[in-house]
Amino acid sequence: MGGHNLVLIIFSVFLLSSSAYASRVAQFLASGDFDVTSPKYGGKPNTDISQPLANAWKDACAATTPSRVIVPKGTFQLKGAVFKGPCKAPITVQVDGILQAPPIEAQLANKEFWVQFLEVERLTVSGTGTFDGQGQNSWKDNDCNKNPNCGGLAINVRFDKVKNSLVRDVTSLNSKNFHFNILGCEHLTFQHVTVKAPGDSSNTDGIHMGRSTEINITDTNIGTGDDCISVGDGTRQLTVSKVSCGPGHGISIGSLGRYDNEDDVSGLNIRDCTLSNTLNGVRIKTFPASPKATPASDIHFEKITMNNVANPVLIDQEYCPWGQCNKQIPSKVKISNVSFKNIIGTTSTAEALKIVCAKGLHCDQVVLSDIDLKLSGKGTLTSHCANVQPTITRVPPPLACATKA
Ligand SMILES: *[C@@H]1O[C@H](CO)[C@@H](O)[C@H](O)[C@H]1NC(C)=O
Ligand SMILES: *[C@@H]1O[C@H](CO)[C@@H](O)[C@H](O)[C@H]1NC(C)=O
Repeated sequence: MGGHNLVLIIFSVFLLSSSAYASRVAQFLASGDFDVTSPKYGGKPNTDISQPLANAWKDACAATTPSRVIVPKGTFQLKGAVFKGPCKAPITVQVDGILQAPPIEAQLANKEFWVQFLEVERLTVSGTGTFDGQGQNSWKDNDCNKNPNCGGLAINVRFDKVKNSLVRDVTSLNSKNFHFNILGCEHLTFQHVTVKAPGDSSNTDGIHMGRSTEINITDTNIGTGDDCISVGDGTRQLTVSKVSCGPGHGISIGSLGRYDNEDDVSGLNIRDCTLSNTLNGVRIKTFPASPKATPASDIHFEKITMNNVANPVLIDQEYCPWGQCNKQIPSKVKISNVSFKNIIGTTSTAEALKIVCAKGLHCDQVVLSDIDLKLSGKGTLTSHCANVQPTITRVPPPLACATKA
């Protein structure tokens, strides 16, 4: 065989195989995409796409190869959505448009939430789009400080029993209640997510979780009217990194110890975060008179920058909002192995560090190191500790448990 022929054969084999490959890829992309605005689903901008979206999810979830539900750029109304698994293959919900919830609570398809991902595995929620809860009219109903029958407003986006999944790039805007709620999930990452609501929108926690393991929140920007991140009972192995928070109420473990069916909290790492103009910094709060002894342990806050933050470092085992509990009976939540390391920046309250543990129970293995906060407001910097003997290194005297009980 001549050299020319050999080259020709190799070249045509290459051509054949590469075009076969290209068409396989094209076929794969085409068959895997379920666009709500395609003729099959018929979604149109500025109309309600609840049904088109439900139909697209149903088909995508039944696909045996990886699939993608697409909400393209544009504004769409949505009364509600339940994305229920299990699905047959990995599935992506790509939101590039703006999804708007009904501004009136009664018009939602479901009372407790707007969008729910339920029992899905290998899910990716991505895109440059927005889940707009249109909660502006609802916040006044979150009047729990004066009304014991308050609340019950819809959560923007819920994740229930979702595993091995990723939420990335999307925005949650002006939710009626919590923005994101994570319950019973495993190995779920939030990456480069944005949460936006005004500082005075009540009860609009950014990301709340409970009974979940291996949650990872990273590179995320949260500005809202309540806790940026709140960690409920039963959370284990949580990593929060590169989160910026503000406005908001800070990053909070708890409240814990309020109900009698609570689970332990352990293995929480919160690091490389920045809080700006928030009502609290990093805190652990537990109710007094807790019905059950559920420990909270192995909780580490590291490299946190505070910009004009009130109560930057706080453990409060007498947390009792709205005076609905008996502060005389100590909390039963045992707090141990907690560290606050490398906490710098400015505090807007003179009492910059407060560690008030439960009487008789005490907090164990609390470490304070490299804490350096300057007072941005008036007064004299100070700190208070009770029922705890922390190990303190490189913390200036005003911040090193200046007063003790
Ligand atoms: C969390 O996610 C980030 C970004 O994907 C990654 O770099 C980091 O390793 C993850 N951390 C854990 C504990 O999974
Ligand atoms: C404290 O927490 C760290 C991190 O979770 C863990 O590795 C360590 O074993 C804990 N220490 C004790 C004494 O439990």
